[in-house]
Amino acid sequence: MALKIARRGLVPPFIVMDVLRAANDREAAGEDVLHLEVGQPGTPAPAPVRAAAKAALESARLGYTDAMGVPSLRARIARSYGETYGVELDPQRVIVTTGSSGGFLLGFLASFEAGDRVALAAPGYPAYRNILTSLGVEPVLLPCDLAHRFQPTVELLDRVAPPLDGLILASPSNPTGTMLGRAALSDLVAYCADRGVRLVSDEIYHGIAYEEPAVSALELTDDAIVINSFSKYYSMTGWRLGWMVLPEDLLRPVECLAQNLFISPPTLSQIAAETAFDCHEELDGYVAAYARNRAVLLRELPKAGFDRLAPADGAFYLYADVSRLTNDSQDFCRRMLAETGVAVTPGMDFDPERGHRFVRFSFAGPEVEMGQAAARLGAWLAD
Ligand SMILES: Cc1ncc(COP(=O)(O)O)c(C=O)c1O
Repeated sequence: MALKIARRGLVPPFIVMDVLRAANDREAAGEDVLHLEVGQPGTPAPAPVRAAAKAALESARLGYTDAMGVPSLRARIARSYGETYGVELDPQRVIVTTGSSGGFLLGFLASFEAGDRVALAAPGYPAYRNILTSLGVEPVLLPCDLAHRFQPTVELLDRVAPPLDGLILASPSNPTGTMLGRAALSDLVAYCADRGVRLVSDEIYHGIAYEEPAVSALELTDDAIVINSFSKYYSMTGWRLGWMVLPEDLLRPVECLAQNLFISPPTLSQIAAETAFDCHEELDGYVAAYARNRAVLLRELPKAGFDRLAPADGAFYLYADVSRLTNDSQDFCRRMLAETGVAVTPGMDFDPERGHRFVRFSFAGPEVEMGQAAARLGAWLAD
């Protein structure tokens, strides 16, 4: 007799992981693959972070920590808000999490009931809608387009049938890299305040911006759940460490959930991460490399035939409208990998409705590969 499987687990796969596997299989077979599909830095954690981890491994007990995180790390994170945004923050409002992914789970569980409705941009990071769905919360996709930098607007929200319980924002966004300016973000914060909508601001790509620095929701309100991570700017994806800044009313519920779900975030990573806030020289060097990669792709991709690109204000992605080249971006990416060895991600992950017309290029890899990829793609499309 077949045993029951909960519907909660029936969420779509993350297609980029399938692309990654296909690219790795080709590489293992001896082929030369250019990885413009991966959404993570190709660099290690800053040297002082690695040194701190080595020392802690030898000398610290590495037991559980407080469920909210090591107090000195919470204090250091709070201090960084003063340094970066000029915002004074009580360390008690900071909770350290297992990546921002752990933060989403805790934040959504504490804020939304099954049956609630939460708006978010399409295209957007797929885990938001898949986590919400698995919790029985209804994701309400806002069809965002180039005219509004692929970001939600009050006008789009006004078209959503009530009730709305939450809004998730990501600036810079994955997959588009586009950002919300201060005025646009303020409008959305005011919208949420007026209607009692819980705002979740994913700020994981803060620090990686090319024109203006990103604005934190915390500069505008104390009511939002602000989510961040050591994964991107700090180049520490595998250390599985992130944090949230919470409104007062969510502190205790999130603490209780964290105690039960995770006990504590990874101890070794927490001890080492404290030094990351003093590594700006090394980390800004990584951002300078992304900026060079971005410049190469913005110059070369249009020549190759990818001329409809979202204005990537930050992060390390370019989202390209490929509707003039294909109506099936998944098949297009499969053929691209097979025929050129260039791996990119089809848009379906990010936008179930319109993603078949888009692909995402990641430029987190080595600079030399950016030019090579554009050259291979130019020759391929010319064929
Ligand atoms: C927008 C966005 N948020 C969150 C995450 C999850 O990151 P982590 O759990 O490593 O902090 C990612 C990862 O790619 C992302 O792109």
